[in-house]
Amino acid sequence: MRRVRLRFAKDLEIEFRDRDRALQQIEQLAERGTLFPVVIYGPEGCGKTAFFKQVRAVLEERGYHVIYASPLAESVEEILSYTPTVKGIVKEVLKAFPEPYSRIVDAAIRIVSEVMKRLRRSRIALLLDDVFQAVGLDKAETYVKILLNLIEYPPGDYENIVVMASSSEGVTRDRIGRHGWASMRILWNMCREGFEQLHDAIPDESKPSYETVWRITGGNPRLLKKLYEAGWDVNTVFKSVVEEKKLDLFVSKLGEEELEILRQVIEDPDNLVKRLRERSAQELERKLIELNLIMYMHDRDEHGWIDQPPPEKDLELGIGRFYAWQTPIHREAMKKALRCIEVTNH
Ligand SMILES: Nc1ncnc2c1ncn2[C@@H]1O[C@H](COP(=O)(O)OP(=O)(O)OP(=O)(O)O)[C@@H](O)[C@H]1O
Ligand SMILES: [Mg+2]
Repeated sequence: MRRVRLRFAKDLEIEFRDRDRALQQIEQLAERGTLFPVVIYGPEGCGKTAFFKQVRAVLEERGYHVIYASPLAESVEEILSYTPTVKGIVKEVLKAFPEPYSRIVDAAIRIVSEVMKRLRRSRIALLLDDVFQAVGLDKAETYVKILLNLIEYPPGDYENIVVMASSSEGVTRDRIGRHGWASMRILWNMCREGFEQLHDAIPDESKPSYETVWRITGGNPRLLKKLYEAGWDVNTVFKSVVEEKKLDLFVSKLGEEELEILRQVIEDPDNLVKRLRERSAQELERKLIELNLIMYMHDRDEHGWIDQPPPEKDLELGIGRFYAWQTPIHREAMKKALRCIEVTNH
């Protein structure tokens, strides 16, 4: 299998590593197609985009015409890319849209419909990366239904179809999951072995040991990249998370009860479950999920996951059976913000 090359940092390209279990799952999907749109969500920076790029290569090797839209990408070539076999159809459809790049998801769906009509009995894949943020979270459900209709009531013929969408928005699960229109799968941070391969691929003599970065990042490749770019200075990375998410402001707006629950959630995220009957715990849960700090976890049954699920409990990494911090850095950044507010208040 061809492994795609990815830009890891300004000066460093790295070949797609590991995710072996996930790639096996994709090979199985490629054989029978997807009966529902597969919606992949997971921690910010866990590697969803990297994975989609590799999925495209896997599907093309299996004879799929792939249409890949990534509305939040920077360049036009990345916003919409496709297998050269459908180039003529793509050009024609794009011409019919006055401003195709501002409505790229609609354009991509139209392209798939046209491919079904014209290239009968073919293998078609539609990959939509980070799509719900682009169409608006309020329309996420509508789009998932449109994707399901494309599979169930195709405007043309197909041999197999694979439809996958990704999202890093914590609220995705609640918005989309409740309808049963999609197969919801979590892609978690990389497993130990996979992350070790990525760490090995960084040619930097001053890098800390693999064990050290594992404990800090919990296997999140974006945070590994941030550490690399910060010259391995962990405090710079903590600070960037606190600032990006405005955690000090977040903490300063919490009431006494919420603060008390937050401290318990830092100890063990499953403590949240014990308090969920209380209104303040429900509010706190909503806020922490919305800010992409914690996630609600499925049970570890393999159907809910792409690639290996994390263990049921790993308190060092902030992972519980029901809830998990997206990474240990998210939890530590929250601790820092809490400490800061406590000092200011005394
Ligand atoms: N399996 C992998 N092999 C090599 N590099 C990877 C792998 N997974 C992720 N990366 C690299 O780690 C960084 C973060 O990954 P990526 O952008 O795919 O995360 P993401 O989940 O899409 O993030 P976001 O939530 O912001 O959309 C990128 O530089 C990517 O190339
Ligand atoms: Mg992404």
